Amino acid sequence: MYQYDPIDQRIVDERVAQFRDQTKRFLAGKLSEDEFKGLRLRNGLYIQRHAPMLRVAIPYGLLSTRQLRMLAHIARKYDRGYGHFSTRQNIQYNWPKLEEVPDILADLASVQMHAIQTSGNCVRNITSDQFAGIAPDELVDPLVWAEVMRQWSTFHPEFNFLPRKFKIAISGSDEDRAATMVHDVGVYAVRNPQGETGFKVIAGGGLGRTPIVGHVIREFLPWRHLLTYLDAILRLYNRYGRRDNLYKARIKILVKERTPAKFREEVEQEWAHLKDGPGTLIQEEIDRISARFKRPEYLALHSPDREHEAHLRADKAFVRWVGRNVHAHRAAGYRAVTLSLKKTGIPPGDATADQMDAIADLAERYSFGEVRVTHEQNLVFPHVEERRLYDLWQALKPLGLATPNIGLLTNMIACPGGDFCSLANAVSIPVAEAIARRFDDLDYQHDIGELDLNISGCMNSCGHHHVGHIGILGVDKNGEEWYQITIGGRQGTKAAIGKVIGPSFARQDVPDVIERLIRIYLEVRESEEERFVDVVHRIGVEPFKIRVYEQVH
Ligand code: HEM
Ligand code: SF4
Repeated sequence: MYQYDPIDQRIVDERVAQFRDQTKRFLAGKLSEDEFKGLRLRNGLYIQRHAPMLRVAIPYGLLSTRQLRMLAHIARKYDRGYGHFSTRQNIQYNWPKLEEVPDILADLASVQMHAIQTSGNCVRNITSDQFAGIAPDELVDPLVWAEVMRQWSTFHPEFNFLPRKFKIAISGSDEDRAATMVHDVGVYAVRNPQGETGFKVIAGGGLGRTPIVGHVIREFLPWRHLLTYLDAILRLYNRYGRRDNLYKARIKILVKERTPAKFREEVEQEWAHLKDGPGTLIQEEIDRISARFKRPEYLALHSPDREHEAHLRADKAFVRWVGRNVHAHRAAGYRAVTLSLKKTGIPPGDATADQMDAIADLAERYSFGEVRVTHEQNLVFPHVEERRLYDLWQALKPLGLATPNIGLLTNMIACPGGDFCSLANAVSIPVAEAIARRFDDLDYQHDIGELDLNISGCMNSCGHHHVGHIGILGVDKNGEEWYQITIGGRQGTKAAIGKVIGPSFARQDVPDVIERLIRIYLEVRESEEERFVDVVHRIGVEPFKIRVYEQVH
């Protein structure tokens, strides 16, 4: 965990005081709606369907138990007893009262948290791999670099009023678990053949109205130049990004219109003015930030553990949970565990205050007091002793957090949709629930194998539907809710945008359509290892399309 220094703390404390005064003036009628809008958005406060919505940043998804307990306290005291973990490793509260938001921010500041830059046209929360620093396939630990970028981007004077919001993700593994390819800028921390740390830089990805997989604009950037290079990219975007048309304002449109090759060249030219300048990173700075990360002190353990092996032999349900929700760890005898927030009947990503408190207690017992948020809207205990997995599993079950569905169909990403979001064309949560009920049989889900199903309530794509193996998008047809289905999308280093299979469906037909797609897949797959998305890429969309529509219409 990163620990704030006095400067970090002063920044958030001062921000609370400023916002308290701004809110007071607004409530007293001394600031207009318009004047207040920019101020509240800079503190993560949206006006939504039912009430304001407050989005709190969880930098690169890391949470201490103290912070998680505070999130629970806020849910209980100021909201309706729950919070929603989002695809950007943030948490959202749907029911705060405007006059209480300054108090919420003050509570957050007391545990080194804030809602700064979680909305507005600025660099948003830096996201990363939930297994950062612990994944065995990791080339470089991205956490310190993520923190370097967080400090660089917070209140960066030049990038405070960008043409649109700007999202950066960083990953340091072979396997990309941070949707890096569909960010405005994606950074892969890598090593060159000489063993030096650097970055592969991707730009111009993004979902939303025009989904695009990002382009490699630099294969290897030595680490010293990370910030000056990012400055160059953002300067270009700030200067040439479209401010006249909201729909063409993201960097992906700029890169597309100029072509990636030309954009690359322009970045290099811009960078020439900045390279080796004052923004160049030095070892002392990396050491300073690195020293503020408290790392767990692992025990010297033997793996495999005999007792754990015995449990695996004796308990099939445990085997299933270990197979889906337990992941490899770099330290011998340790594992990472995903706590599924995808129990059927609960909106994906929601956790109650009581669950959050219980999770904090368990994290202290089992995970060095550390919890992480995944972009698939689940939580992770990053450092669990293998020999204690069985106990942890027993403790998670009554809390509804042990559903063994990670990577499976019911581990859906779903945005809040029409139930909460004023931009929605259609609801998402009830669709997710109807599908989850249809596929509630875990055996069947295990037979189907790995499948990402993602749902968004409108083309803004908060639910990442374009990169779901099956994507569901809510569309509006003459004031009615319809759903468009895409297949073949995927995240990861080989990210792809899904293809639409044809005209959209009525809400009640969606579970049937999903079931048909899956039946076709089960018939034509060549082995159990061939996933749904692999079949789509092998045989194309057409066979699915023909058979789904011949049965529906
Ligand atoms: C309820 C209030 C919300 C509002 C008003 C809102 C607003 C928007 C808008 C306008 C876009 C379009 C961006 C574009 O031009 O590409 C967008 C995209 C996005 N939002 Fe939200 N959103 C909300 C909730 C959420 C939630 C709950 C999540 C996560 C679960 C989320 C995460 C994202 C992500 C990941 C995108 C993808 C688009 C991209 O990065 O290119 N938002 N949101
Ligand atoms: S995808 Fe649309 S409906 Fe869903 S949260 Fe985003 S803006 Fe709202």
